[in-house]
Amino acid sequence: MMEQLKAKMRAEGSVIDTHVLKVDTFLNHQVDPIFMLSMAEEWKRRLGDEKITKIVTLESSGIAPALILAQLYGVEMIFARKKKSITMDDSIYTADVYSYTKKLSHTITISKSFLTEQDHVLIIDDFLANGEAALGLCDVIEQSGATIAAIGIVIEKSFQPGRQKLLEKNYRVESLARIASLNNGEITFIEEKT
Ligand code: G4P
Ligand code: NA
Ligand code: NA
Repeated sequence: MMEQLKAKMRAEGSVIDTHVLKVDTFLNHQVDPIFMLSMAEEWKRRLGDEKITKIVTLESSGIAPALILAQLYGVEMIFARKKKSITMDDSIYTADVYSYTKKLSHTITISKSFLTEQDHVLIIDDFLANGEAALGLCDVIEQSGATIAAIGIVIEKSFQPGRQKLLEKNYRVESLARIASLNNGEITFIEEKT
């Protein structure tokens, strides 16, 4: 699976600059469901006996992999919403997420009715860069008293600080592909034994 993902990233991805990889052919615009299923099976294999009662992601690109994984586990998938401005609302958990890429902050929300303190949540997202989105998701989920079992990422840019920030807070991070660098228009991966 990991080799298949790397091959797809090399064949179909475009290195936009030293920090951004475009993968619109299978992840961020067009979605390849068969490939998503292989990714979901890989996360499930890695997590083994870990108890999972909900999958949580952030709209929009996390939804496709999260939904397929939720189907494998037979649990519900929740996508946190991004709201531009926050109106007073007692029925939602909220966190502010700053995007270094877009240089703006937005509020992410999850309805209080979808999470309880009995839940064991697996977070899924397409990219891990600075970790702001993942940390915001952890924040809204933990406001409910739920437990975060792990954070599953499709593509981690390991040269950016997201992974380190999540590990420092003792979250388990399972990234399917880890990019060491995007220098010289090329993708260099961190080689891992799985
Ligand atoms: P962070 O959450 O890890 O701090 O990352 P950042 O603010 O930099 O990410 C902002 C958006 O850009 C996110 O999508 C994220 O998935 C995406 N992103 C970050 N790095 C890359 C990259 O190298 N390539 C691609 N293709 N996307 C990247 P978003 O705004 O939430 O959009 P979407 O989920 O609606 O697609
Ligand atoms: Na995303
Ligand atoms: Na994205």
